[in-house]
Amino acid sequence: MWKWRRLMRLSNRSLMAFIFFFSMSTTCLYFIYVAPGIVNTYFFMVQAQGIMLRDNVRTIGHMIRLYTNKNSTLNGTDYPDGNNSSEYIAQPTTYLPENFTYAQNLPCPERLPSMKGQMEVNMTEAPMEETELKLKHLDIQFGGHWKPKDCKPRWKVAILIPFRNRHEHLPILFQHLAPMLQRQRLQFAFYVIEQTGTQPFNRAMLFNVGFKEAMKDLDWDCVVFHDVDHIPENDRNYYGCGQMPRHFAAKLDKYMYILPYNEFFGGVSGLTVEQFLKINGFPNAFWGWGGEDDDLWNRVHYAGFNVTRPEGDIGKYKSIPHHHRGEVQFLGRYKLLRYSKERQHLDGLNNLQYSPEISLSSLYKNITVNLNPELAPIADEGWGDVGRAEMRERCRLAVALEWHLEYTWAMTTLCC
Ligand SMILES: *[C@@H]1O[C@H](CO)[C@@H](O)[C@H](O)[C@H]1NC(C)=O
Ligand SMILES: *[C@@H]1O[C@H](CO)[C@@H](O)[C@H](O)[C@H]1NC(C)=O
Ligand SMILES: *[C@@H]1O[C@H](CO)[C@@H](O)[C@H](O)[C@H]1NC(C)=O
Ligand SMILES: *[C@@H]1O[C@H](CO)[C@@H](O)[C@H](O)[C@H]1NC(C)=O
Ligand SMILES: *[C@@H]1O[C@H](CO)[C@@H](O)[C@H](O)[C@H]1NC(C)=O
Ligand SMILES: *[C@@H]1O[C@H](CO)[C@@H](O)[C@H](O)[C@H]1NC(C)=O
Ligand SMILES: *[C@@H]1O[C@H](CO)[C@@H](O)[C@H](O)[C@H]1NC(C)=O
Ligand SMILES: *[C@@H]1O[C@H](CO)[C@@H](O)[C@H](O)[C@H]1NC(C)=O
Repeated sequence: MWKWRRLMRLSNRSLMAFIFFFSMSTTCLYFIYVAPGIVNTYFFMVQAQGIMLRDNVRTIGHMIRLYTNKNSTLNGTDYPDGNNSSEYIAQPTTYLPENFTYAQNLPCPERLPSMKGQMEVNMTEAPMEETELKLKHLDIQFGGHWKPKDCKPRWKVAILIPFRNRHEHLPILFQHLAPMLQRQRLQFAFYVIEQTGTQPFNRAMLFNVGFKEAMKDLDWDCVVFHDVDHIPENDRNYYGCGQMPRHFAAKLDKYMYILPYNEFFGGVSGLTVEQFLKINGFPNAFWGWGGEDDDLWNRVHYAGFNVTRPEGDIGKYKSIPHHHRGEVQFLGRYKLLRYSKERQHLDGLNNLQYSPEISLSSLYKNITVNLNPELAPIADEGWGDVGRAEMRERCRLAVALEWHLEYTWAMTTLCC
């Protein structure tokens, strides 16, 4: 009897401990889950990639050290391990001399004297009308088109900007991007693709819509997928395309100017039209934020491409601060990402229907669409069963975490 009571007390205590630790871990995971930025990105990476934690612990350590000791990074030493890794050493680049003269019938050079490097970034919000006045001297055609007159543009670039409820960000982006692209002597046009309706934000589907609409305008040869809140800091970040898909936003200030993980493909990226058609565009199935850029990375690699990035400081971006407030995360992304390959040719440009509302504005074309999942039906060819058993083996941890997260999510939603 006495023993029994003691056992009871003991198990009571361990029950208490269990509850304590469970709720603590739940809180912790909940924090990780909703925290925007680094933690979330890493957590996501671990889940999405299966288990590649070991390789990244080193980088995570760096991030944390940098994060907690911001001052040590102030003076140009912002590349950890950067001493000798060629990735971080800016290649010696030669830009043309100031007195360079253009020839109208020759292609514009890629390294123009007008590209000075580091730009001033001014994040002050201003109304669109004021910005239009300020940019009047740039001589951009109504609707957002421009092309150089003193040489033949090397690339015809459609800049696609997915959009919802960010009216204050748009002028800031144009103020920096338009002059920069002119200094790079690229032919360009801006397309703002706005999502209406009540569905979660679908960045990827908006890009697909924007691509299809832009191609009706002109035979673009390069497409840049540009988040509205990413402002380039260096005008030598050349927005032309190349043999390989390009990830322009290699170093974001919100990630302490470090590439968060090697497969990161978000923010600003660019593909030639052929490359984009070959990979069947973006996936349409990612509703809510997160995951679609990783899926694009997968598509690009399944198609046999490698991604290139600007070197050194050239790939730096400032992000206009905001949170994913009121925007839902896409919970199903991990599951979809595991079947990137199977889905690539079922979901993308080829299964997308939509009816846009189009209007012109002085700096851009406004493509407004109401999106919902019925617009991109996926023929069910049983890809969901592919390798399910194998997945269970390999991703047991990921699945457990996912379950825990979804449970926590549900609990918190119910409680709060
Ligand atoms: C960081 O640097 C600023 C100015 O450079 C200084 O005021 C501040 O005290 C420093 N913070 C730490 C934690 O060293
Ligand atoms: C950063 O470098 C500049 C000159 O290169 C120097 O004047 C300044 O004191 C340095 N700041 C820090 C925090 O080391
Ligand atoms: C980088 O190189 C400098 C000298 O070139 C050296 O003093 C420093 O310790 C090196 N840092 C690392 C992390 O290797
Ligand atoms: C960097 O590499 C060069 C040769 O590639 C070598 O001479 C130098 O010692 C290395 N520096 C560091 C700090 O490792
Ligand atoms: C341009 O300037 C360089 C020196 O800055 C000079 O050597 C060259 O002759 C100049 N070219 C022309 C076409 O003026
Ligand atoms: C930043 O932009 C705002 C609004 O366009 C303008 O009023 C302000 O003068 C700019 N600041 C700088 C330093 O250029
Ligand atoms: C991509 O990179 C991998 C590894 O660096 C290399 O083996 C492969 O040949 C590259 N593919 C192309 C198309 O360049
Ligand atoms: C685009 O046009 C719609 C009307 O078709 C309008 O409600 C919306 O504000 C416009 N968006 C932008 C960014 O101009």
